[in-house]
Amino acid sequence: MFYRETWAEIDLDALQKNIRLCEAWTKKAVFAVIKANGYGHGDEFIARKALSSGAKMLMVSSMDEALSLRNKKINGDILILGYIHPKDVRLALKHGIRLTVTSLEWLKEIVKHPVDGLIVHVKYDTGMNRLGVKLQDEVREILTICDRHGIQTEGIFTHFASSDEEDNVLTSKQYEKFNELLDSLDREFKWIHCANSDAALHFQENRCNSTRLGLAIYGYSTFNIGLKPVMRLYSKIVHVKQVEAGETVSYGATYSPLKTEWIATIPIGYADGWSRRHQGDVAYIGDEACEYVGRVCMDQTMIRLQTYHPVDTIVELLGDHADVVKMAKHMETIPYEILTQVSDRIPKVYYENGKKIGEVHSRMK
Ligand SMILES: Cc1ncc(COP(=O)(O)O)c(C=O)c1O
Repeated sequence: MFYRETWAEIDLDALQKNIRLCEAWTKKAVFAVIKANGYGHGDEFIARKALSSGAKMLMVSSMDEALSLRNKKINGDILILGYIHPKDVRLALKHGIRLTVTSLEWLKEIVKHPVDGLIVHVKYDTGMNRLGVKLQDEVREILTICDRHGIQTEGIFTHFASSDEEDNVLTSKQYEKFNELLDSLDREFKWIHCANSDAALHFQENRCNSTRLGLAIYGYSTFNIGLKPVMRLYSKIVHVKQVEAGETVSYGATYSPLKTEWIATIPIGYADGWSRRHQGDVAYIGDEACEYVGRVCMDQTMIRLQTYHPVDTIVELLGDHADVVKMAKHMETIPYEILTQVSDRIPKVYYENGKKIGEVHSRMK
């Protein structure tokens, strides 16, 4: 139950379709990246559906995100892609959470305490220069230390910096470097992975057996293969009035109509993750484009109607008409930012086989 006139609808069938499409396209195992609250779609339903759709592992960025899944009784394999403080390794052991070895120093620190049974993936930094081990010798030392301390090195991976660009030189260089490392190691890994969504869908490689997919499973990629957006976002008109020429709308009086216009208010704002950069972009009522006029406020936003619509009219903010890729261009950002910003103040309603199967509104627990 929720009492807001703004909500997100999450199509779990689309999620399943996307995962299966990607799996068929890449012929590799899919690891579902569900960090940042499942890219804004909510972690619990997304995690369950991803696993039942064939994802072999869930990937998050922090211990908090991993524990959030375990607290919701998600029992599948989980890998934390980011750094965790050495003192928190005991939580990984307790809850059966896989960790990324981000550096040799980190590994040396964690083996000061019992780590027998820990499962890790070693991250090799081939050019992203964010996290990971840069030297082959260090990787070899890491494997030796892991063996000595009963740590299972289940996986090895790297991350591309420019996978959204076709025929990118850096991607090829990074892949080459990753291959050189693998060739130099006399070692089998259960999982070898290097590709995120864009790389998985267009970069030809045959060394890996798995892919880490975020954006694609939610329905987007620069290299589209028929993916279907999982999230739709709606609001309703809660107030409508005529604004005369010369009057202004919202904070800072940045918008002033040239003639009398119907201006409607919808209850979504930057506190919901609906950025001030939406100003000048459009929402839709049916096929009718309605520009966001004036500054987006904390809880409310104004749109210009082409014709009068009453209170309670549904407005599409993300959906068949309001496309996140176009929106991202308008805002000079990327779809990732728009999706992950959808805050937990927005209730999420989940659909499967065309039927509502649940809703999550973290403010109403
Ligand atoms: C290490 C790593 N792998 C995979 C992904 C998923 O990327 P994408 O959403 O482009 O598939 C991310 C996302 O940021 C990441 O940080």
